[in-house]
Amino acid sequence: MTTFGVNGRPVELELDPRESLLEVLQDRLHLFGTKKGCDHGHCGACTVHVDGRRIVSCLMPAVQAGGRQVRTIEGVAGPGGELHPLQQAFIDHDALQCGYCTPGQIMSGLCCIAEGHAGDDDEIREYMSGNLCRCGAYPGIVAAVRQAAAAPGV
Ligand code: FES
Ligand code: FES
Repeated sequence: MTTFGVNGRPVELELDPRESLLEVLQDRLHLFGTKKGCDHGHCGACTVHVDGRRIVSCLMPAVQAGGRQVRTIEGVAGPGGELHPLQQAFIDHDALQCGYCTPGQIMSGLCCIAEGHAGDDDEIREYMSGNLCRCGAYPGIVAAVRQAAAAPGV
């Protein structure tokens, strides 16, 4: 048995060592906010936090999450469903079209801000460069991260 936390809740699962964290989130825990894009670590659609650090969940064997805390897009809004300032900023700046990359962009953006890498647009672009957007919503994404970085308490 492997035990770990997902969005603050304890999870205990018998895992196949070949299962990725992304597969476990979607197929076993039915958390479909985290997206599969390339499944090879290239697009960032599957970005989640593990112990506060962003990782691409398609490349992480789920067994490695044992004893750790995983946060997905489902764990970002407040307990009453109130949007996180970065989620609101994505809406304010129209930072999505199809929305497929958006959960990964938001998970990555949260760490970009927490890491202190949201000082200006060039820095945001560099530290968000692992997250691709086929719709080309990059100007809105950068503006959203910039707005959230300046929000109180973020
Ligand atoms: Fe994981 Fe593309 S699906 S990086
Ligand atoms: Fe469509 Fe980014 S909004 S891939």
